[in-house]
Amino acid sequence: MIENEAGVTDAVLAAMARTPDARLRAIMASFVKHMHAFAREVSLTEAEFERGIDYLNRIGQATNDHHNEAVLFSDGIGFSTLVCLLNNGRNGATETASALLGPFWRANSPRTENGASIVRSPTPGPPLFARCTVSDPAGRPLAGVEVDVWHSSPLGFYDNQDDTQADMNLRGKFTTDEQGRFGFRSVKPAGYPVPTDGPFGELLRAQLRHPYRPAHLHVLAFKPGYKTLITQVFVDDDEHLESDVVFGVTRHLIGDFRRHEGDAPEPGVEGPWFSLDYAFVMEPGEAVLPTPPIK
Ligand code: BEZ
Ligand code: FE
Repeated sequence: MIENEAGVTDAVLAAMARTPDARLRAIMASFVKHMHAFAREVSLTEAEFERGIDYLNRIGQATNDHHNEAVLFSDGIGFSTLVCLLNNGRNGATETASALLGPFWRANSPRTENGASIVRSPTPGPPLFARCTVSDPAGRPLAGVEVDVWHSSPLGFYDNQDDTQADMNLRGKFTTDEQGRFGFRSVKPAGYPVPTDGPFGELLRAQLRHPYRPAHLHVLAFKPGYKTLITQVFVDDDEHLESDVVFGVTRHLIGDFRRHEGDAPEPGVEGPWFSLDYAFVMEPGEAVLPTPPIK
């Protein structure tokens, strides 16, 4: 029995104390302590409580096979990036910094020859030639790494958001050569807004925040015996680098997208083009593949 407000937290913690699963016990005890402390800190009113519950319910209702509003909300309060950075790159790790997988990764992207184009249907935009390497922390090249690359178009849409693009446009799976190299031709990606037609959009508007992610390439590097590297390389001239709506930019992940006039690596390239040279580092560890986030 509880005497008053002051006794609620201890009563709940006592009720949960016999949870046999030690990890569940620890997580729920901490969750309850922080939730109760939060209500006390802001002196949560009953109307605000009801509004919060309604908001949570609407997050669930806005979630389906093609869109996960709960993940988007977590992204937008920096929670997804916090969990990502808590679990990767700590304790003196020397690997390339991790970044969010995002919703648009698709399994089975087309295997593509090193150096070939991932532009699979006409996609106007500045040509981009990427030359990358993958090494271990000692700088030894890693051969045979499967590197999945995917990115938005110069209009800011992924192939699975845009009927004008061929299936698997701007996606490819490369294998590093004996020197740990892979490369491809593409077009320079643009930044894009996250969806704002659901509860998360409401929050952004209430907070006077914009919905944009800075332009980026997604990379997933996989090799048995090495920790799977999931990251993003950001375009260095993007106006939203300092204000990514999902807090995904870490400084080391800003790429050198260099603008050139003439002398492109391939014949027939008219006008300015961009190069990107980037060196990825993978650590020994467990190779696991994520589940594609959406259908
Ligand atoms: C993305 O980078 O694809 C992404 C990440 C978080 C939310 C929306 C998109
Ligand atoms: Fe993205």
